[in-house]
Amino acid sequence: MLVEELREARRSAGLSQRALAERVGVDPQVIKRLERGIGSVATLVAVKEALDFRLNGLGSGRTLAEQLRNRRRKRGWSLDKAAERSGLSRATISSLEQGGGSVASLLRLLAVVAPKARQRAPERAYWGQGDKEDRDSRFTPPEFMDGIYQAFGEIDLDPCGNALSPVIARRRIMLSEGGDGLTDNWSGRLVFVNPPFSALLQWLRRAYDQWIAGNVETVVCLVPVRTDSAWFQDTLSSVADIYLLRGRVRFLNSHGKGQHTPFSLMLVTLGATAEQRARYAKLVPGYWLARADVSVAEAA
Ligand SMILES: C[S@@+](CC[C@H](N)C(=O)[O-])C[C@H]1O[C@@H](n2cnc3c(N)ncnc32)[C@H](O)[C@@H]1O
Repeated sequence: MLVEELREARRSAGLSQRALAERVGVDPQVIKRLERGIGSVATLVAVKEALDFRLNGLGSGRTLAEQLRNRRRKRGWSLDKAAERSGLSRATISSLEQGGGSVASLLRLLAVVAPKARQRAPERAYWGQGDKEDRDSRFTPPEFMDGIYQAFGEIDLDPCGNALSPVIARRRIMLSEGGDGLTDNWSGRLVFVNPPFSALLQWLRRAYDQWIAGNVETVVCLVPVRTDSAWFQDTLSSVADIYLLRGRVRFLNSHGKGQHTPFSLMLVTLGATAEQRARYAKLVPGYWLARADVSVAEAA
């Protein structure tokens, strides 16, 4: 499965085996063999990186080796148990968990340790097909919110609230109750905004206006990484602190089920203190971007 998906990923990137081999710095024969499941895990990892091919269904970790080890541990399996299940030796599994070994052994181990491991859907910049309801009726999952509460504190206002949303806020502005977060007044210390992405810029502007006017102390917006508008680049980027999230958020649908998000997300924060930002970075994988230096842009 993994090997077939890898071949598909190469084809959809429009690369021949030769072109991929050049990119990775190996002989084309190596790619040919890899696509038949023969070769070293080290080569497989290099190819994965060259194709930005990522797997879902493994454990956490920065490398495939770490992910394999964490996945085995998460299942509560010792090396002996994994060996018994996969028919591989302990030494082979140890080697795979340190980045060594062959693709054939890796496939055998994956089949028992992570049988559902599949290629992660490629990044898109949009939700894809589906009506507006699909795209905008999605709620921030409680586990994501925990990081927000712990780092930034209790939320005073959710200006685009929804009765089905797990977000805990002292006040929610809700369309269903005749409210309108784009025109009703905002107030409070902390505002959390996960807006309809179909009107992203409108909501970011609203957040900025309310913050600049001093109506709110801190705003935290959870939005897609879309940074191409002139307003974002000229205005927001020099005052906002932006956190690029690692991995994707699975938003809840109206039945409380997690749904896949096909693009990267970021936090756009206004008025967040250095302590809040440091706390967040400790809790949630990702990193804070340096603010845009307007004087450099003006001089250029
Ligand atoms: C992506 S959902 C997020 C809901 C909630 N804030 C959360 O994080 O779980 C966006 C919500 O904004 C609501 N909404 C859209 N336009 C709005 C408006 N003008 N004023 C208030 N809410 C609005 C929609 O009903 C939808 O429930």
